[in-house]
Amino acid sequence: MSVNVSNKVIIAADHAGYELKNEIADYLRSKKVDVIDLGTHSSDSVDYPDYAADVSKKILAGEAPLGILVCGTGVGMSIAANKFDGIRAAVVSESFSAQMSREHNNSNILCFGSRVVDLPKAKTIVDAWLGATFQGGRHENRLQKIKKIEEIC
Ligand code: RB5
Repeated sequence: MSVNVSNKVIIAADHAGYELKNEIADYLRSKKVDVIDLGTHSSDSVDYPDYAADVSKKILAGEAPLGILVCGTGVGMSIAANKFDGIRAAVVSESFSAQMSREHNNSNILCFGSRVVDLPKAKTIVDAWLGATFQGGRHENRLQKIKKIEEIC
């Protein structure tokens, strides 16, 4: 895996994503990625918006350029994270969309579901995402239009 964007990733999960989050964090560390793990740290039931907010705030504060959120489906995490201006959270279940979400959408948070993808699939998704680079150009223009939507909402 080549990490083009950063060597630092903030990761978090709710109880549904707890085990897969730990496995992905270990996988990233084995690839020499600097991982900041914001929890959860047990399988006790928690609320995914709290973790989506923690990671989103830290990304926006510049503590790391990229974050990963895991819940049961990835959907709740992505909905919550995308409430923050400047967060572009992509929920995906295969590596092509993960790659495109960086190259075309400049996604800064990756979301996936532990009840949707298994560990091998999650690894391919994470590899594709971290290995891709935003292409700019016409895609930058489209991101500016998203920014304008954020400003009027
Ligand atoms: C928790 O049961 C589940 O609702 C949550 O992990 C997530 O899938 C929500 O989108």
